[in-house]
Amino acid sequence: MTNRVGVIGAYGFMGKNHARNLRALEESDGNVRLVAVSDVNPKVDELGHIYGIPAYADYHEMLSGASLNAVVVAVPTAQHCQVVCDALESGLHVMVEKPIAFSADEADVMFKLAQQLERILMVGHIEWFNPVVRRLVKMIQDGDLGQVLMIETKRLNPFPTGRDQAVGIAIDLAVHDIFNVLKILDLIGKPFYGKPLAAGGTSPLTSTKFEDHITMLLPANGVVAEVTASWLHPFKVRQTTVVGTKGTAVADLMSREIVFYPIGEGFDAHDLAAAMYNLNFVERRIPEVPERAVEPLRLELQEFIASVSEGRKPAVTAEDACEVLEIALQASKQVLGGEK
Ligand SMILES: NC(=O)c1ccc[n+]([C@@H]2O[C@H](COP(=O)([O-])OP(=O)(O)OC[C@H]3O[C@@H](n4cnc5c(N)ncnc54)[C@H](O)[C@@H]3O)[C@@H](O)[C@H]2O)c1
Repeated sequence: MTNRVGVIGAYGFMGKNHARNLRALEESDGNVRLVAVSDVNPKVDELGHIYGIPAYADYHEMLSGASLNAVVVAVPTAQHCQVVCDALESGLHVMVEKPIAFSADEADVMFKLAQQLERILMVGHIEWFNPVVRRLVKMIQDGDLGQVLMIETKRLNPFPTGRDQAVGIAIDLAVHDIFNVLKILDLIGKPFYGKPLAAGGTSPLTSTKFEDHITMLLPANGVVAEVTASWLHPFKVRQTTVVGTKGTAVADLMSREIVFYPIGEGFDAHDLAAAMYNLNFVERRIPEVPERAVEPLRLELQEFIASVSEGRKPAVTAEDACEVLEIALQASKQVLGGEK
């Protein structure tokens, strides 16, 4: 069956990318068609014209009139709950942008409604679909790194000026890495438990009253998992490093390259210090990354469509997204010292 998909918030930054990728998937995959777009911005008509499909100013009209079976919701996060619930109640499967919501209560409402109506609700934790993250995960699963000891993520950039910051960096950006770290911890059988332990806060360097830099430790048995995000850095970094008993892999999420620093032969795999002092990390390897040039958003949408077609759970569920949001909210609260 061909899935008839619409995009709500289609004229926005992410909405345009979703529409473009859905149209590209339509050409490569037989089971999806972009059939309608909606945005309160009247310029959405231009998009409708480009794609040769109807454009709606009122998404309710699209939900009732465009014979859809799925939608992508890319409106501002504060509106996710209302729009997602309307779409679910119209009987549609939904893919909503990250973060699922700004509050745990709203996230819970969406999750429970999707469950009750037996509709798929996938959340756009896009970095899970980054080809370099997939390669890193495969290396971990194949045992290339040995026993995982540390996972460290960095997401750094200058403060995004001109943006109305409704939340801090934990909820806006760190959620990408929290999701990936939780998934990796699950895959290696060392699941996250308890609460994050966070340091950071707000600084005089930005105009936000929310945290603009944060580092959090995510407790897991025998693994140090650390997520850092900052709006105070003069440059952009998106990096995930995994240290294992057989070596360390450093993944650059922007260039989509991995460098692997194996621990040399002849050393006790558990004697990291000896291996390092003997400089046996010198033999770097650059593992090939399949589908390196493919946009993560395309792979994410492909997964959404596949989960709808196959009637199965998507790789990123609403339940996962609720847990990620909860951790980000707790970390933000810790560093801000109370409610904001
Ligand atoms: N996955 C990522 O890497 C990533 C990156 C940026 C933003 N996001 C997320 O995507 C979402 C949108 O962010 P953005 O940066 O694209 O915002 P944006 O402001 O560029 O776009 C939002 C669009 O929604 C439209 N809109 C608002 N209310 C609407 C309504 N009731 N009906 C129809 N359209 C409506 C706006 O006119 C606008 O065009 C947010 O949840 C954000 O967190 C995700």
